[in-house]
Amino acid sequence: MSSQINVVILAAGLGTRMKSKRAKVLHRAGGLSLIEHVVAAASAIAPAERATVVVGHQSAQVRQLLAPSGVRFIEQTEQKGTGHALLACRGSLASEPGLVVVLYGDCPLLAPATLAELIRRQSLGNAAATLITTRLDDPTGYGRVIFDGQHQIRAIVEQKDATPEQLSIPFINSGIYCFNAELLWRHLLEIRPDNPAHEYYLTDIVEILNRAGYSVAAMVVENSAELLGINTRVELAEVDRIFRERKVRELMLAGVTIEKPETVTVDATVRIGADSIVEPFAQILGNTEIGEESRIGACAIIRDSTLGAGVEIAPFTHIVGSRIESGAHIGPFARLRGGVRIGSNARIGNFVELKNTNFGAGAKANHLAYLGDAEIGEKANIGAGTITCNYDGANKHPTRIGKDAFVGSNSTLVAPLEIGDDSYIGAGSVITSDVPAEALALGRARQVVKEHWAAKRKKKK
Ligand code: UD1
Ligand code: MG
Repeated sequence: MSSQINVVILAAGLGTRMKSKRAKVLHRAGGLSLIEHVVAAASAIAPAERATVVVGHQSAQVRQLLAPSGVRFIEQTEQKGTGHALLACRGSLASEPGLVVVLYGDCPLLAPATLAELIRRQSLGNAAATLITTRLDDPTGYGRVIFDGQHQIRAIVEQKDATPEQLSIPFINSGIYCFNAELLWRHLLEIRPDNPAHEYYLTDIVEILNRAGYSVAAMVVENSAELLGINTRVELAEVDRIFRERKVRELMLAGVTIEKPETVTVDATVRIGADSIVEPFAQILGNTEIGEESRIGACAIIRDSTLGAGVEIAPFTHIVGSRIESGAHIGPFARLRGGVRIGSNARIGNFVELKNTNFGAGAKANHLAYLGDAEIGEKANIGAGTITCNYDGANKHPTRIGKDAFVGSNSTLVAPLEIGDDSYIGAGSVITSDVPAEALALGRARQVVKEHWAAKRKKKK
């Protein structure tokens, strides 16, 4: 049972049927690229240094994406088929005994428990290989599994080479195999590209092993959704939907209320505390963490952000790369563009935009404002229409507003600027120089009233 396991993930193909310039395994479903999902499944059965990813198309991008995981890479410079891709590993792996698990980079829903069971079966039995198959109502596109009379697999026939009779077989090749390492590397060289596509089909190894007198066992998996391979964008959308369903279900079972869960998009990487509520059509993406008893409003989009407990995000709010402390209220229709920290119990209202700003605890900006490169003190009140003029056309400048300061509506704050604690800015001011603590600053023309002006004008006519 404790044989050494090497995992090989085939990910060199372009994925012609995706009709994309981007390599198929870099397309995303459930918030991660397809290859990241497969590497995560592999990490459950083997340490990263025993996982090899075969790269080819856009190998630099694939390598960069996976570098933090610690997996090894082998280059398949020309993509001549799945058998050819595995052959590229022969030089570095053939001397290693034990088992070789082969996974395809376009099959991202695979559960670690299924892989563990595959290894268990291969270790217990005496077959040269075990492969995972399932019954599909519509097996179109997949290789079909041909059984012999004893539940062993005699051959796999690709869709494009199958006879009409073989096409009616519902058992498909999932592309997930566990091989006896020694037999695999010994017989892999026998695969020939003698098919209409002139490709080296890995699937031919089944017949080759049979011919050499070995058997190939099947592990039939009931939950066929887990084995879906992605070749087109239609399948990509279907797999994404399954990931989304899995994630919201997992969150609901962990104590998060999700209204109309079928409309909500939550990435695999997101964490949400119990008793939080997510309203319809919310999107919670990337590396986002939300504390307990928070509420995420309808159609809000939150990416790569950290929210404390009891935070309320009202509908249609867009938050990226920000940190929001407990009890704060944001939105509706607010935008936090990145580098924003909102202190506890602060309030950001409708049509307020913040960028690179530290907004103090208990401070308020309830309507129509832009705060960029700013430091806002605790309990400051930022009036409707306040604008920090942080950009002079060449450089960005900071604005500091002290605690308990009151900035009147429609103030224009020309940075760099310091506004002291407890000070007042009169509504409609254009403030260009610093304001000391506790002062009142007025930066606008004095009002002129001309009595009876209208009547005099009429008489002249
Ligand atoms: C393959 C199987 C088919 C199975 C299906 C399951 C073969 C010949 N066919 O077909 O029986 O039902 O998967 O999803 O194996 N790749 C390389 N180098 C290459 C070619 C492919 O690394 O030269 C990689 C691809 O990046 C991909 C994986 O291998 O991740 C599978 O290739 P793909 O072209 O999608 O094979 P299918 O036609 O889906
Ligand atoms: Mg495929």
